[in-house]
Parts: sequence; structure tokens; C-alpha cells
Amino acid sequence: MPFPIKTDRTVGDAWKILAPAKLNLYLEVLGRRADGFHELETLMVPVRIYDQLSYHVAPNEPLSLRVGTFTPDDQGKLLAGDAHDNLVVRAAKLLAESAGVTPTGQFQLIKRIPVQAGMGGGSSDAAATLLLANEAWQLGYTTQRLMTLAAQLGSDVPFFLGQRSGICRGRGELVEPAGHLPRLHFIVAKPPIGLSTPEVFSQLSSQFVPDDQRAEASKVKLAALVALLRKGALTEAGRRMTNRLESAASTLAPWLRSLRELFSKTDCVAQFMTGSGSAYVGVMRSARHARRAAGWLRSLKPGEGISVGHVFATSSC
Ligand code: C5P
Repeated sequence: MPFPIKTDRTVGDAWKILAPAKLNLYLEVLGRRADGFHELETLMVPVRIYDQLSYHVAPNEPLSLRVGTFTPDDQGKLLAGDAHDNLVVRAAKLLAESAGVTPTGQFQLIKRIPVQAGMGGGSSDAAATLLLANEAWQLGYTTQRLMTLAAQLGSDVPFFLGQRSGICRGRGELVEPAGHLPRLHFIVAKPPIGLSTPEVFSQLSSQFVPDDQRAEASKVKLAALVALLRKGALTEAGRRMTNRLESAASTLAPWLRSLRELFSKTDCVAQFMTGSGSAYVGVMRSARHARRAAGWLRSLKPGEGISVGHVFATSSC
């Protein structure tokens, strides 16, 4: 189960939840909206790399958050720090305000999902906070009610409440379950420099050519992609995996071109940037294929004009 919530009696009143990353297998931008956002159509799958959120009940202590990071180069070392403006704090405060309760207790967040990667780490943390605090504070909110709060926190947050693969529309907050998809295996390369979502969208806006046919064409292409995935036709499905934000991101991040060249040597089924980047993804034929390709990519040393940063193999949940 992708979102296990459990109490751990050995450490007292503690709650834990895993917050998965996501990858966008398809992302089309349908248009610009009056509110400054872009109208999207995207297929997102949760993947098995997780941030871990825990919460200690402390009714007399004001809400606090400690954040630790497992750095890619220093696996296992916890770099601890406080964070006040984190989405975890914003989510907990929003839920408490909506329920008319005082937000209390200690949150701890251990980050493993690369940041500014297009993998939804912050959004997943926010959704995990809503799920966890709803349980710990015994609020009894339905998923539908949490969805409304989630949409206020960010366009991708409702997807992470859904706990499964989804087709997301609107600015990303309108989530339709994609049904059962077979497990997919990926390699993910995260360059050392991330990309800012607003910057990528604004770069796209400057190049954006409106097209009346795009919404219909996207609907047909995405339906075909989902149908092919469901029947296990991976090669054919791979041909329909694209990301409209990739060329805009490439103008901000020239290393994406180098990654594209490298990934094309891995015999992957498809390759694309996820979300607004900067992580780059290869869809592999099996777990073994993914592990071998990740090992090969890791063995390439920077200094050849290619800076891969952090490479790992993962699969969908
Ligand atoms: O909703 P979220 O906080 O993730 O959005 C961050 C920024 O990304 C927005 O302020 C906007 O500039 C851009 N964005 C967009 N269209 C979307 C989602 C995000 O333009 N559908």
C-alpha cells in the first residue's frame, strides 16, 4: 500500500507515513488561463522513492517541524534543520484552521525525493501531512474534503491524496484514477541543479502557440497511452510518452540535451523529463534492465560535459 499510516507504540504516540514521489509519463499544456496557471493534461504515477514523515503527539506544544536530508553522496547521514515555511507546516495549519483546532505536536520529515526535480516531493509531503494529521487529530475528514484543502496547497497535492496513478487536468488538481497499470521500471537522473516550476512555465509561455486542435488530439493520445499500458504494450505506449515542458526547460537547462544523448544508449522504451524538471527519466523493460542502466550511468564521471548528479532505478507503486 503506497501510503501506510501506522502508530509505532515503541516510541510513544508516534505516527509515520511514507510520501512517494511521482513521475509524469505524459504532460500536455492545453492553454494559458486568466489566473496565470496553465491548463494541463497529464498522466502521473506514484513511484517507490519516499520522503518519510513522522509526527509525535504533544497537545501542549506548538506545531514544530524538523527536516533531515539524506544527501545522494552521503547516504545515511541526517542533516537536521528547522523549517517554518515548509509545505508540511502550511498543510497542518490549513487543516487545523479548517477544523477549528489548535495545531500542535512535532513533525519530522526525512527527505529522500530530489528537490526541484519535477517529482512532486513537496506536494507529496503536503498530502501526507493532511492524511496523517486527519488521523492523529481524529478529524474524520473524507478524502473529498481533504481534496479541497489539498488544491489550495498546490496543483499536484490532490494527486498524492488519491494514492494511485491518475490523469490530472485543470491546473493539475482535477484527478481521475487511471485504473490499474502494470508495474513500470525507471531510471531517473537528477542533475545537480534543479528547475523552478514558475520559471519553466513562464519560459513555455513565451514560446506557446495556441492550437484549437490540441485538446482533442491530447485526449485521444492519452487514452491510447493508458489503454496500451493496461494491456502491457510497453513499446507502443512508450512512443506516446511526451512532456510539452521539456523544450522550454531545455533552454534553461542545457544539460538536458546531454542526458537525452546518454539515455538513448540505454535501450530504454521511452525517455523524457518529468513534470517541470529537472529530473530526466528512462522507461526500462525490467527491474534488471533499470538497475544495469542506472549502474552504467553512475559509472560515467562528470568532467565530460555531463553532470548527472544523482541516478537511481525505481518502479511504480
Ligand atoms: O500549483 P503550484 O504551486 O505547484 O504552482 C507553482 C507555479 O507553477 C504556479 O505559480 C505557476 O506559475 C506554475 N503553474 C502553471 N500552471 C500549472 C501549474 C503550475 O503555470 N498548471
